[in-house]
Amino acid sequence: MPKAKHLKNTKTPKHKNTIHMYENPRLIIDSSNPPEAGSITWRSPSNIALIKYWGKYGRQLPQNPSLSLTLAASCTDTMLEYAFKEEAGDGQIDLEFYFHGEANEAFKSKTKAFLESLLPVFPFLKQLKLVVQTGNSFPHSAGIASSASGMSALALCLCSLEDALFGTLQDPADYDKKASFVARLGSGSACRSIFPHAAVWGETPLVAGSSNEFAVPVAEQIHETFKNFHDDILIVSQDEKAVSSRDGHALMDGNPYAEARYAQARQRLATLLEAMRSGDLATFGKIVEDEAMTLHALMMCSNPSYTLLRPNSLVIIEKIRAYRAKTGHPVYFTLDAGPNVHLLYPGDIVHEVRAFIEDELKDYCEDGYVQQDWVGEGPEEM
Ligand code: DP6
Repeated sequence: MPKAKHLKNTKTPKHKNTIHMYENPRLIIDSSNPPEAGSITWRSPSNIALIKYWGKYGRQLPQNPSLSLTLAASCTDTMLEYAFKEEAGDGQIDLEFYFHGEANEAFKSKTKAFLESLLPVFPFLKQLKLVVQTGNSFPHSAGIASSASGMSALALCLCSLEDALFGTLQDPADYDKKASFVARLGSGSACRSIFPHAAVWGETPLVAGSSNEFAVPVAEQIHETFKNFHDDILIVSQDEKAVSSRDGHALMDGNPYAEARYAQARQRLATLLEAMRSGDLATFGKIVEDEAMTLHALMMCSNPSYTLLRPNSLVIIEKIRAYRAKTGHPVYFTLDAGPNVHLLYPGDIVHEVRAFIEDELKDYCEDGYVQQDWVGEGPEEM
């Protein structure tokens, strides 16, 4: 059939600020056949970016593709309880929110605003009474970001709820794609936590099917050694971050190096993917450390400038370099938007590296705290 005349030559704007992809006004519960009350629980992990997402546009769209390893031990457990509201209510989200068993007003209002923004995607949410019970496997004060695990766990609960009510997400690949899309709207990096081992978020010719709207799994494209990698998180400071990720991303807009940075990330992704395909640890480590330093360099040269590294972060980095030079062990560091140092290494040297942490690094961690983590299988429904 010929296309409607008025559609001829029209192009969808590339950077449309919308959630149109999954808008679905048909996802409304038939009130003459209401569902029974129920609950859904997901455990979802954090992830550590190797190529960093830093800079965004539109509604949570990344300026460059990023690649992460999915972790195993740093998780959020989220239970979503739902019950059909006999009274139509005011069309608003009806939510109770508990964090580690206690009502939490700050988290509740953030989550409510997020769910309201998702009503075009999940219009049935306004027909339900919702209770969210959530908690992390790591201490809240540990300075470990919980937005990736928290937002991915919530997104998974929402997609499972849609499927329980309407049977619309039966295909696992469709399910994961939508969960990743929804997680991204909550926190960009969260979209990568949906997949086992490793994921890429952001359009790149290097990965078939990649998109700015959701992450895609890349486990099949990486060498086995990376599926058995460890990431021990050296907690240098448990303080709240001085600058939120959201504000940090926004500062990239005025950063004179921004365009060069986005081009660099694309080139580094190509090199890193090749190294991860072939199992080339030295190239892997070089790129990963360069990315960590670049992220913090970008913060230091933004306006206003800020520093999230602490003196002990730098001491630990120097010690890792010295240990690598001395022993030849493939031990590398990365950083997220904070002072804590992630120590990355293959599982076959776990005993040697744990001894190194104990002997040389622990003293530089706040209260000697190290969160041991490793590459994992992705989220689980409980
Ligand atoms: C440095 O995903 O926390 O960890 O999308 O505003 O929620 P928002 O930001 P967020 O940023 C993560 C930044 C990073 C790098 C990364 O994970 O890729």
